[in-house]
Amino acid sequence: MSSDRMEQNMQTETRPVIEEFVQKKIDEIRDQVGDGKALCALSGGVDSSVAAAIMSKAIGKNLTCLFVDTGLMRLNEGEEVRKMFEGHFDSNLIMIDAEERFLGKLAGVTNPETKRKIIGEEFIRVFEEEAKKIGSVDFLVQGTILSDIVESGTSGHALVKSHHNVGGLPDVIDFKEIIEPLRELYKDEVRAAGLALGLPKTHIERQPFPGPGLAIRVIGDVTKSKLDTLRQCDYIFRDEIAKAGLANKVWQYFAILTDLHSVGVKNNARAYGRMVALRAVNSTDAMTAEWVHLPYDVLGKASDRITNEVGDVTRVVYDITSKPPATIEWE
Ligand code: XMP
Repeated sequence: MSSDRMEQNMQTETRPVIEEFVQKKIDEIRDQVGDGKALCALSGGVDSSVAAAIMSKAIGKNLTCLFVDTGLMRLNEGEEVRKMFEGHFDSNLIMIDAEERFLGKLAGVTNPETKRKIIGEEFIRVFEEEAKKIGSVDFLVQGTILSDIVESGTSGHALVKSHHNVGGLPDVIDFKEIIEPLRELYKDEVRAAGLALGLPKTHIERQPFPGPGLAIRVIGDVTKSKLDTLRQCDYIFRDEIAKAGLANKVWQYFAILTDLHSVGVKNNARAYGRMVALRAVNSTDAMTAEWVHLPYDVLGKASDRITNEVGDVTRVVYDITSKPPATIEWE
């Protein structure tokens, strides 16, 4: 049991055997839904993927999953979700390309809280429009897990932090009931359930990724070109971490596109390029986090590649601040 879980729940409890739990849930949901239709928002994250996988096993084509591509995803993320879905689900998938909408709404906005609000609202709007096209659904599926409920301090409802999450959806969708297949499981159990359901390990071991996506990792106003720059830097950093065999050893690692420019030399000429920051932290519950002492050669390779391969970046720095006092995201 992880220390965070012990803190969250001090009483000794018997935890479910995952394979049995998964099968029981599938049977229960099949009985509950019958011939009804269910709708599930897929974010690409672990919780919504595992919730959708249980639903898919239970009701197959009566489940429709919606994936909203906000344009704020990491490199190839939409494609990865599609591949995972096509390989492991026997349900319907609707992928919505909403990049222009999101970037249009975010144009010129620099305040991180405003960015979060805009993204959260737009997400609900897109979801609502698409759900209307499907018509009324009987069940809305949510990836709520036990720690969401424990953190909210109530036993009845999962109050999803102030974070952007699909938790804001129920008010706007015409449905009869909510199904939360994972509400009895902690995060590590959700991962185990995902593996028991045959989801790819790479997907199950994904690092946490904020709901508002790269919008809060581009400091200042968000544009497509800045997002493309950040996507490349972030991909290179992740690639170097993976090549060094550290992907499963570091809790969260990513790049940030700062709003600083800094003078440099590129192709024998003065270049006034962007400054990118790299961050890697270890944590158990994201409430506190320690910066990771990544090997210098990993940092060095990432920095060389970023400055060589990404046109407008002239400087790379590494964040050596833990949480507290810093947060994990820069915003
Ligand atoms: P901070 O920056 O507050 O982040 O130290 C703590 C953890 O939460 C992630 N994060 C989010 N996750 N929706 C999410 O589901 C969000 O809006 C959101 N914002 C931050 C962050 O990546 C870190 O793991």
